[in-house]
Amino acid sequence: MKLLYSLLVATTCVLAQTPGQASGAGKTGPGGLTINPGGEYKRSMVGTDFSTNNTYRNPIMTINAGDPFMTRYNDWYLFTFSTNDNITIKRSRSLTADWDYAETKVVFTPDAAEACPWCTDLWAPEIHNINNKWYIIFSATPDADNPLPLLDAMCPYACPAINHRMFVLESSGSDPWTSNYSMKGELDTFDQFAIDGTYFKFKGELYHIYSCWENKYSGWPANLCITHLSNPWTVDSTLLERRMISVPNNPWEQVPYGRPGRLATNEGPQQLTNPKTGQNFVLYSAARVNTPFYCVGMLELVGEDPDPMQYSSWKKHNENCVFHQNPSQGVYGTGHASYTTSPDGTEPYIVYHALTTDNPEPALYRTTRTQKFKFGEDGFPVFPAAANGPFPLPS
Ligand SMILES: *[C@@H]1O[C@H](CO)[C@@H](O)[C@H](O)[C@H]1NC(C)=O
Ligand SMILES: *[C@@H]1O[C@H](CO)[C@@H](O)[C@H](O)[C@H]1NC(C)=O
Ligand SMILES: *[C@@H]1O[C@H](CO)[C@@H](O)[C@H](O)[C@H]1NC(C)=O
Repeated sequence: MKLLYSLLVATTCVLAQTPGQASGAGKTGPGGLTINPGGEYKRSMVGTDFSTNNTYRNPIMTINAGDPFMTRYNDWYLFTFSTNDNITIKRSRSLTADWDYAETKVVFTPDAAEACPWCTDLWAPEIHNINNKWYIIFSATPDADNPLPLLDAMCPYACPAINHRMFVLESSGSDPWTSNYSMKGELDTFDQFAIDGTYFKFKGELYHIYSCWENKYSGWPANLCITHLSNPWTVDSTLLERRMISVPNNPWEQVPYGRPGRLATNEGPQQLTNPKTGQNFVLYSAARVNTPFYCVGMLELVGEDPDPMQYSSWKKHNENCVFHQNPSQGVYGTGHASYTTSPDGTEPYIVYHALTTDNPEPALYRTTRTQKFKFGEDGFPVFPAAANGPFPLPS
């Protein structure tokens, strides 16, 4: 999600230099997006190293974008992320080569002046193939996160995102690139705050998992909620049946460390299935996006014949984040990740956004990065330290 409040965070970390730092302003690339906005990166240090085609470096995309969502179709990688103003998709044959300059399409552009429910602050789009159509699920608000003062005053603390809700676009055909997309409407969250929604698929059933508040005006903390869907745009759970499956009640889910309530966040949920064991995980982001501590936490679907709509079906990995900042590499605020594989399908990859400073400006500059991970003996994902590379190219 976008920055809601600026927050000064005191840490003892030393600001590390990002390899390839170079001065110079950004330039406009495909889709009207600014490439290398911070002027930090030489093109030769981004993604695949074209001088050998053997290795790649992080970031793989320098465009300032949060919430990277990567998936595959046929021989393509299909990529989307938050632009705030529209829904932009990109595609490439390679997971790591040249995302800044990859083919780009803007598939949905609302008119912000209309102030429609999905017209401003479009966050965290994802694109999913369900029954041979493509569904883009995203969050947005009518008021650019400036609710009427009396509405804002209903919350115990300011709640600029109170009008954010989830929306669904449907493709006209089975090809995500050549299709047009049309609005199917709002995904019902009982007229309550909802961002970062994703689809969770289990035993032929479809669920919506999203970042939610406990009630309409609670504001903080942000939790994870689940509802059942009868199709990609229709919720058939009631508010009573909605389940809050994760609350940021561990100190590492709170900012500053251990501060309960306000600035405690669970968001950016994402399904990850172990292809060998069939174990299902929900990886999500915890702490705050605008701090170095933003990190990836994990829930597991457990039990004999689990019903995702029951609290008892979810086991949280309480000990710590499973993927987090690495000050020694100058990588901070690692989160809002999605999961894909190498081109041959054998290696799992995490695609995440990160900051390169531990004391970010209110206008966050987040780049897109990817790293290989593995599944351990117990079937759990095991993530590497966040790093810049160089790494071998995906297999
Ligand atoms: C989509 O949004 C981005 C980010 O604001 C902007 O740079 C780009 O020009 C927009 N594209 C279109 C076609 O509106
Ligand atoms: C690496 O791949 C790129 C794109 O396919 C190509 O243009 C370049 O010549 C290749 N480099 C080498 C050293 O083969
Ligand atoms: C998408 O919409 C445009 C403009 O209405 C139309 O020309 C085009 O044929 C449509 N494409 C598909 C694949 O439906």
